[in-house]
Amino acid sequence: MNREDFPMLDDSIIYFDNGATTLKPKQVIDAMNKYYLKHSSNIHRGDYDAAVTTNNAYDAVRDIVAGFVHCKSREVIYTSGATMSINLVVFGYMKKHLKKGDVVLLNKAEHASNVLPWMKLQEEIGFEIQYIPLSEDYEVLYENVVNCVYSKTKVISLAHVSNVIGDVRDISKIGKFCREHGIIFHVDGAQSVPHMPVNFQESYMDFLSFSGHKMVGPTGVGILIGREELLEEMEPLCYGGGMNAFFEEDSTYELKSIPVRFEAGTPPIAEVIGLGEAISYLQKIGMDKIHQYEKELKQYFLSKVKDIPNIIVYNKNINSGIVSFNIDGVFAQDSSVYLNHYHICVRAGNHCAKLLKDVLPVKNTVRVSFYFYNTKEEIDSLIEALKNSKDIFKVVL
Ligand code: ALA
Repeated sequence: MNREDFPMLDDSIIYFDNGATTLKPKQVIDAMNKYYLKHSSNIHRGDYDAAVTTNNAYDAVRDIVAGFVHCKSREVIYTSGATMSINLVVFGYMKKHLKKGDVVLLNKAEHASNVLPWMKLQEEIGFEIQYIPLSEDYEVLYENVVNCVYSKTKVISLAHVSNVIGDVRDISKIGKFCREHGIIFHVDGAQSVPHMPVNFQESYMDFLSFSGHKMVGPTGVGILIGREELLEEMEPLCYGGGMNAFFEEDSTYELKSIPVRFEAGTPPIAEVIGLGEAISYLQKIGMDKIHQYEKELKQYFLSKVKDIPNIIVYNKNINSGIVSFNIDGVFAQDSSVYLNHYHICVRAGNHCAKLLKDVLPVKNTVRVSFYFYNTKEEIDSLIEALKNSKDIFKVVL
């Protein structure tokens, strides 16, 4: 659907790397260009017309985001991306609230951005990181989460949808359990917020992180949502203009209220405006519709690929638009180079989930990640290319 809005699709490429970043529609590019061409100015500093236009456009996005994921506007913090959002949770909030002996629960399918910040803070504090065991299908199941929790468990941090396996975790149930047991619940929504309805309040989340560029928005902007009372206790990681109320020679200072307290310096103004346009664009299509359509594409791919004997799919039973596979006996990156010969864009490697190798039978996979602008015809082209893959080394070498 909506393919005519995406200039990149004019170049006859088949773009299946939506988990890494999505293509951008004209509407988003136009909204950003309008800022640069018609009302370039900083925010919250100028009284002239262009500055007022920019303020209005920029401030309106906080309400758009809040409506999209169901939280309060003052709970929406602009960051540079999901990675920065998670670092803000870990070093801004958890650093003050964790102590030696506490346990943080992760799992081995998580992206580096949801493992390394915790490892770094662990070096400083000495808490323990434990890993929720994955199911036979490499999923995080509610029962396995609950079985790992005991009195020392203080945090559960996990992706709503994992970026390699693509399993959709039952975050509402896990969130409710966390709230009942006084456990902080952080959700990495980088692979879910762009693809399905997400409800911050109804899923009992304490924090939710996601990026603009994976949801038809620009690079350089992301979002952290945090429960208001937790944000009041969170420390900024960055100090400077825009976030302080005053400061004096005797080193006294006062910070502004949440959420701007966490947004020091000139923010990515064009990108925030672009993100607002991206969200409005997705809302016009409908998140339920996007999710259903991606699942349909995935089922279509699986129904075709099952007849090709040398393709090994690792996540057949998963309810999202992510497929991870290998051509038997072929290094994943060679497969990706081979598919590029057919102008098919995929991602190959460990996909930054570097602990997954302890659980999956292979270290690297080819990942196809669908979005609403993909079609069954494009999948047919991928299937044809995979059928021809016995000749892969004639093409790749
Ligand atoms: N996190 C992005 C991916 O999974 C970059 O490809």
